[in-house]
Amino acid sequence: MLARAMCGIVGYVGTREATPILLAGLRRLEYRGYDSAGIAVCNGEQAHLVRCQGKLAALEKLLAEKSPVGAYGIGHTRWATHGRPSDENAHPHKAGPISVVHNGIVENHVELRERLIASGRVFSSQTDTEVLAHLIDEALQAGAASLVEAVRAALRQVTGAYAIAVLSDRSPNVLVAAKNASPLVLGLGKGEMFIASDAPAILEQTRDMLFLEDGDIAELDHSGARITDLDGNPVVRKPRTVTWTAGQAEKAGYPHFMLKEIHEQPRAVTDTLAGRLLPDSNDAVLEDQEVTPLPSRVVILACGTSYHAGLVGKFLIENIARIPCEVDLASEFRYREPVVGSRDLVVGISQSGETADTLAAVKEARARGARTFAICNVVDSAIPRASDLVLYTRAGPEIGVASTKCFTAQLAALTLLAIHLGRRNGALAGVAATELVAELMQIPHKMSETLKETGDLKALARKYQNVRDFLFLGRGPNYPIALEGALKLKEISYIHAEGYAAGEMKHGPIALIGDGLPVVIIATRGKGYDKVLSNLAEVRAREGQVIAVATKGDTAILDQCEDVLWVPDAPPLLQPMLTVLPLQLLAYAVALARGNDVDQPRNLAKSVTVE
Ligand code: AGP
Repeated sequence: MLARAMCGIVGYVGTREATPILLAGLRRLEYRGYDSAGIAVCNGEQAHLVRCQGKLAALEKLLAEKSPVGAYGIGHTRWATHGRPSDENAHPHKAGPISVVHNGIVENHVELRERLIASGRVFSSQTDTEVLAHLIDEALQAGAASLVEAVRAALRQVTGAYAIAVLSDRSPNVLVAAKNASPLVLGLGKGEMFIASDAPAILEQTRDMLFLEDGDIAELDHSGARITDLDGNPVVRKPRTVTWTAGQAEKAGYPHFMLKEIHEQPRAVTDTLAGRLLPDSNDAVLEDQEVTPLPSRVVILACGTSYHAGLVGKFLIENIARIPCEVDLASEFRYREPVVGSRDLVVGISQSGETADTLAAVKEARARGARTFAICNVVDSAIPRASDLVLYTRAGPEIGVASTKCFTAQLAALTLLAIHLGRRNGALAGVAATELVAELMQIPHKMSETLKETGDLKALARKYQNVRDFLFLGRGPNYPIALEGALKLKEISYIHAEGYAAGEMKHGPIALIGDGLPVVIIATRGKGYDKVLSNLAEVRAREGQVIAVATKGDTAILDQCEDVLWVPDAPPLLQPMLTVLPLQLLAYAVALARGNDVDQPRNLAKSVTVE
């Protein structure tokens, strides 16, 4: 499983005051989450918790008034997944003497919470994390011999992803850290130890680090760490000295956030599907929400990259659920006297949740009686707040202005919605349901394979970095990917690029071809493949240079194009989550070759809160 990037964790145990060390670490981790923050610091008697909604500055303000004293503590900066950003949902979470910070998703938190409540436990937040605090406390009350033993007993009941740091009021100067599928690193100081989600948080303190692996549990005191597995067997991990600068470490060693985020996509899709795609029943659940009554039409509203996700969504919803689906640019819809009503489900898609046009369009649809459904990456932002139902993508914060991981996470969310609707109206059943769900489960792995195989595309970028125009062609569900490939390229390389439905080429754009115009053609196997091959031949016949995105093993395509970018075979409806990857990497490589600022391209902003 791949590393997750939601929320930041820090921990300290030693002889110095913990609070300033935790705060310094959290400042370095704020890029991982910034909707709430908190610390728990213990002086050997009782942990003192300070936590609040908002950016770290809000926590700093509270701490400036009263700073907890103690030589061991834990801290957290949050990117909400379960439970809206609020003071109560901010970490650390406490149960009895136990304080916990967590990054990841406890997939079976609903059943665990029900069981704990039935046994008399009272919850004070909506988070999945509070379940962990109660489980550890329960294990201690049931006689666990030590804090680390109690953490082991708790984690044996948990499925999902976690990186946690735990302290107990009753175990002075001890911290316990554990990792499964979310990153966690220990910093080795002299007479002190540190915990962090990633290296930048503690680089100022030490460069000697020990990277935990999945299944590791570490018990730390000022003198060092004892690492074991879930059964208590000792595990040996070799420390290493980190040479990155803090800036490099924040990007996990990648030169730009965009490249890091491109590579986080298999993880973003895995997390978005986690706990929602049910392979046992070939179904999808939308977090305790039911789209009832079933809509007679779906209308998708969005802007930019999110609009392109919506265009793929049309294929997913119409093919899988057999419900008519329209997609509209939010900026057009809101001013058009749209015809929507109570039998429509209006889906607003937005990475930021703050895009002014999408927000206004969703409000307009709701005012006209439609049921509204938000697909969004930022918990409790304006668009989910203005909607009846919401499904959060779990991509984690996206820093690069060019959207990448939020796009593929949106595609995963739309696939869940299509499966959910299709199962309820019976359009998706039997073998088709089994096959679709099984194929969807394979997608994150195939995404990793695609990213690995595509590599850095430096050579390809050198070849095309000075061209004036680019054309992108695709058919069916890959037509929106042609649009998205063109948008990515123009956003960050400033090269003019057009995306077209391949079948439309002969109706106009064919006049552009000649003089070596680079034409990216998505020519993957599936319905329409033969037709795309004809388009490809038409480009070649007019001196265009073809860069094909093709299915691995399709050697026949090799002598028909200049360059090929390979993707693994997948059903056409799921291909967009793969075919977009080489196009993102191509845009990145060309922008870099042209010396552009990849993460903050000119004239653009991450959220467009003006009309
Ligand atoms: C994508 O790379 C863009 N930066 C932009 O098109 C973006 O997708 C659009 O502004 C919509 O933003 P949203 O998803 O936050 O609503």
